[in-house]
Amino acid sequence: MQTDHRLESPSAARNRDPILKELQRLLPSEGLVLEIASGTGEHAVHFAAALPGLVWQPSEPKEDMRASIVAWRDSEGLANVRDPLAIDVLSEAPWPIDAARAIVCINMIHIAPWAATPALMAGAGRALADGNPLILYGPYRRAGVETAASNEAFDASLKERDPSWGLRELETVEEEARRAGLDLHEVIEMPANNLIVVFRKASAG
Ligand SMILES: C[S@@+](CC[C@H](N)C(=O)[O-])C[C@H]1O[C@@H](n2cnc3c(N)ncnc32)[C@H](O)[C@@H]1O
Repeated sequence: MQTDHRLESPSAARNRDPILKELQRLLPSEGLVLEIASGTGEHAVHFAAALPGLVWQPSEPKEDMRASIVAWRDSEGLANVRDPLAIDVLSEAPWPIDAARAIVCINMIHIAPWAATPALMAGAGRALADGNPLILYGPYRRAGVETAASNEAFDASLKERDPSWGLRELETVEEEARRAGLDLHEVIEMPANNLIVVFRKASAG
């Protein structure tokens, strides 16, 4: 008997359609998109099915999640989702891809130590060609903007689970991005007080 490795995340089921709507505009029509921290793989299969011109490259450090990504991919019969890579942005190892037309990272930087943010920016700065986007999704703090009560409660619950986790301040994330050669291009308000934040690799010249 075959084991079904597919895992389910209620938040991925909730946010995948609003995120897809923006990705349809933000992503190129073809080429390789690298997803960092793919989790269960539900986003990967949802986006790859809707954007068949793209090759979706999931990645995820946890083995059970990588098994879930493969199981979702195979159950949906998607030819444009690659085998997941075991990328941990905090590891020193270079990302095993030549280049990406775009990078997507959903709900990771607040559920990882702060060091994951500069590491993500540095890796994206290396993997993206000039003008290409790094697209982040998640809740943020913003200077001069009151944080929603639901996000304050979420922040407290994250810090209880791991004191190194927590909502990041958009302006500090932007500063790290700039250090890695990525400029902030767009901030999109999403349901439930989340944001999509689009950085683009600045041209060296
Ligand atoms: C809340 S889950 C989000 C998963 C998926 N993107 C989603 O939205 O359903 C956070 C993910 O970040 C991954 N993660 C945590 N630290 C990481 C790191 N240093 N490098 C890459 N991924 C990491 C975890 O393994 C987990 O899959």
